[in-house]
Amino acid sequence: MAPLLDLLWQRVLRPMLFRLDPELAHRVVLTLLAGVPVLSAPADDAALGLELWGMRFANPLGLAAGLDKDAAAVAAWQRLGFGFAEVGTITPRPQPGNPRPRLWRLPEHRALINRLGFPGVGMEAAAKRLTRWRARGVSLRLGVNIGPNKDTPPARVADDIAAAAQRLGPMADFIVVNVSSPNTPGLRDWQAPDHLRDLIQRAFAGRVASGASINRPPLLVKLAPDLDSEQLRAICATVMELRFDGIVATNTTLAREAVGVRSDHPGGLSGQPLRARARAVIGEVYRHTEGRIPIIGVGGVASAEDAWGHLCAGASLVELYTGLIYEGPGLPGRIKDGLIALLRREGHASITQAIGIQQPTAGAG
Ligand SMILES: Cc1cc2nc3c(=O)[nH]c(=O)nc-3n(C[C@H](O)[C@H](O)[C@H](O)COP(=O)(O)O)c2cc1C
Repeated sequence: MAPLLDLLWQRVLRPMLFRLDPELAHRVVLTLLAGVPVLSAPADDAALGLELWGMRFANPLGLAAGLDKDAAAVAAWQRLGFGFAEVGTITPRPQPGNPRPRLWRLPEHRALINRLGFPGVGMEAAAKRLTRWRARGVSLRLGVNIGPNKDTPPARVADDIAAAAQRLGPMADFIVVNVSSPNTPGLRDWQAPDHLRDLIQRAFAGRVASGASINRPPLLVKLAPDLDSEQLRAICATVMELRFDGIVATNTTLAREAVGVRSDHPGGLSGQPLRARARAVIGEVYRHTEGRIPIIGVGGVASAEDAWGHLCAGASLVELYTGLIYEGPGLPGRIKDGLIALLRREGHASITQAIGIQQPTAGAG
């Protein structure tokens, strides 16, 4: 079944879809996937399972934010064998996103460039969809990625984050605060320690003031790959001070020539050229946090070896987006099979034993 699906993807579906405008292709696929019935994938090998934030993940592989911004096709992610999916970025109010064109394929690099700017149905419609998926029996672990509306003035961004977290928190297994998309003006500035502290203290005032861990549901922050070591060190210190429960590393990059890509398209670059940088950031974050805060590693994952590399650098979970566009729906299954083979080769009984093994602080946390 799986090789047939791969063949169908490579020989028929991908060539057909790649003839369409990228956004149209995306819409066509999402519309088809939205109709996938609520069925679970075959059970995962127990060696791939792990406990995080008091929850069981059947496997460490997740769908990255941005592909299913409005939670339109959650059953499909469960059916494809993901251990979790991150929907969003969801904003409080619906918004159209940036003018088109705003999404480009770079097949020679197995990459995408986007400057979508969070188009979406807004938190009310998204909340209804999430409630409906749960009612229909979707049991997949779900992260909900939230961000501010484009027209929200800086002084009100904390209100947007608070509103989205409050509305969507009850249906999320974890919340990701996105302060790293390059396509919403000023958003990345919130990564600076003083700004991040201000944002989180205002958005989650009650929880921080009570001294409780701000973790119902667990709260993560998503970082950009375009931060230098000094910035990363300072941000990690602040993330620990604010008692975030996790870090998603990384979002898309603004780099081009530094990652071997020549392109004039504006926006965030994802896929293969991002992989090395994302892995370096995962490693740095792991070291700065001494392995005490779970990391979701994302950027350029398109094979079991890629996922394994992110885990060994310090990620507890791994996500992908662009890899799925190029490799097709058989990819999650292939990655899981490959991870089991890698576990056996390395003599590990569980995926948790691979986390951070390439770091000097191996075994911490
Ligand atoms: C078209 C597109 C849209 C994206 N939208 C979002 C988004 O809304 N929120 C977010 O946090 N990340 C978004 N991302 C970033 C991905 O979640 C991921 O961090 C990045 O693409 C790197 O992973 P990849 O190389 O596997 O694609 C988007 C990526 C792409 C390609």
